[in-house]
Amino acid sequence: MYDLSMMDETVRKIIGNGKKINKTLQRYQTPTYLFDKFALKESIEDFRTEFLKHIPNSFAFYAIKSNHYQPLLKVVAKEKQFGLDASSKKELILALQTSSNKILFTGPAKTEEELKLAIENDKRVIIQIDSFRELKLLNALTKKNKKKVRAGVRIHTRFHGTWTKFGIDIKDLARFWKDASSYPFIDIQGIQSHTSFNTGTKKYLSIVKEISLYLKSPGFRPFIKSVKFIDLGGGFLTYKAEGDYLRKSINDIPKSFKYEKGIPLSDYAKPIGKAISKYLRPSLQCDIFFEPGRIISQKSMHILLEIADIKSNKVVILDGGNNIIGWEKYEETYVPSVNITRPSEQKLKNIILYGNLCTPSDIWGYFCFSKKMSVGDRILLPYQGAYTYTYRQEFIKGLPKAYDLHKKLF
Ligand SMILES: Cc1ncc(COP(=O)(O)O)c(C=O)c1O
Repeated sequence: MYDLSMMDETVRKIIGNGKKINKTLQRYQTPTYLFDKFALKESIEDFRTEFLKHIPNSFAFYAIKSNHYQPLLKVVAKEKQFGLDASSKKELILALQTSSNKILFTGPAKTEEELKLAIENDKRVIIQIDSFRELKLLNALTKKNKKKVRAGVRIHTRFHGTWTKFGIDIKDLARFWKDASSYPFIDIQGIQSHTSFNTGTKKYLSIVKEISLYLKSPGFRPFIKSVKFIDLGGGFLTYKAEGDYLRKSINDIPKSFKYEKGIPLSDYAKPIGKAISKYLRPSLQCDIFFEPGRIISQKSMHILLEIADIKSNKVVILDGGNNIIGWEKYEETYVPSVNITRPSEQKLKNIILYGNLCTPSDIWGYFCFSKKMSVGDRILLPYQGAYTYTYRQEFIKGLPKAYDLHKKLF
C-alpha cells in the first residue's frame, strides 16, 4: 500500500540495505529513471487482492497516461484481470504493441485518424465515446469499413465538478443510447465515469447511485439489458502531501507539508462493492471496470541523481533538472530522498536540493537522509513513477535514459 508511513518504512528499508543498494546502483549513469518491475508487480498484486477481489466481475485498465514506459506496459498487459486504458493515438499504439487484448480507448475530441486505428483493432479495443459528434463520426467510419466495434459512453454528473469537459451529461444518456443502438456497426455496451484526486469513497458512491437511478428510470429502462459494463475510472489516492506556499527567498524552506490522509485500497473497494450490490446489481448483471493510474505506476520507478556541486551548507545542486519529471513537483510535494552513498536515519535539514536547470524553481527537495553531502554522492528518490516519466520534457537539458532493474532493489 502506498501511504506516507509506507514511504518512511521504505526509507528505513533503503537505509538498512544501503551498502548493497549503493553497489547495485554503481552500474547506472545518472541522472536516470530506474524501472522497478518487482515493485510494479507488487502494486498490481495489491490492487487485485485489496480491490478487485472485493468486487465480483471487476477488471482494471491501467491508465497509460500515468506512466507509458513500454516495458511497464508489457508487464501490466500480461496480468490477469488487467487491461490498458489509452487516451490518444500515441498511447493506443503503445498499448497495441503489447500482448493485451483488453484495451480501452478514452479521451475527448478523438480524431478520425484515432478512431480509424481503434476500428482496425476492433477485437482488442473498446472505444469510450466522448460526445454526440464522436458517435456520429464513429457511425460514418464503421459503415465505411463494415466493422462492428464495441463502445462505451463517458458521462458526467453533478458530482463531477470541473470534470464536465469530459463525456455527455447523464441526462442525455438515453438519447445517446437510442442513437447508438440504431447504428448497425456500433455495439454500445457500457458507461464510463472518471473523477480524480479522491482520498475517500464519497464521489464513487454518489456516482454509482446516480447511474443506477438513471438506468432504472423509465427513459432508460428499455435499454438496461444491453449494458455490459460500468466503468468507474481511476483517481484513487492513498495520501496527498503538498505544500501550499510560494518561495520568496533561498531561506524559504517549508516547515511542513499539508498532509491529507487517504484510505487503504480495500477501504475504497468494500464500500464501492457494497454500493454496486445494493443499487446496481438487482437489475443489472454487468462487468465493473476501473482505470487506476498512479496507484499502479507510483512504485514502478525510482529517480537516481548525483551531487554535481555544493554552493554552501544550504545549497546543493544535483546533476539532473526537473525537466526529467516535467514539472516543479518537489517544490510542494513530500518526497524523501536518500543519499545512498552516505545514508543516515537522520534527515539533513535546512538544505535545498536544486536541479541543474537555469531556473530557481528547479528543486528536488528540502532535506535528505544523509550523513553529509559531498560532490559525487548519489541521491535516490524512491517510488516516483506516476506522472513524472510521462511529463518529461526537453527543457534546457535533454532527456536521460531509463534503465530496467534486474533484481529487487529493496
Ligand atoms: C479517464 C481517466 N482514467 C483514469 C485516470 C487515472 O487516474 P489516476 O492516475 O488518478 O488513477 C485518468 C487521469 O486523469 C483519467 O483521465
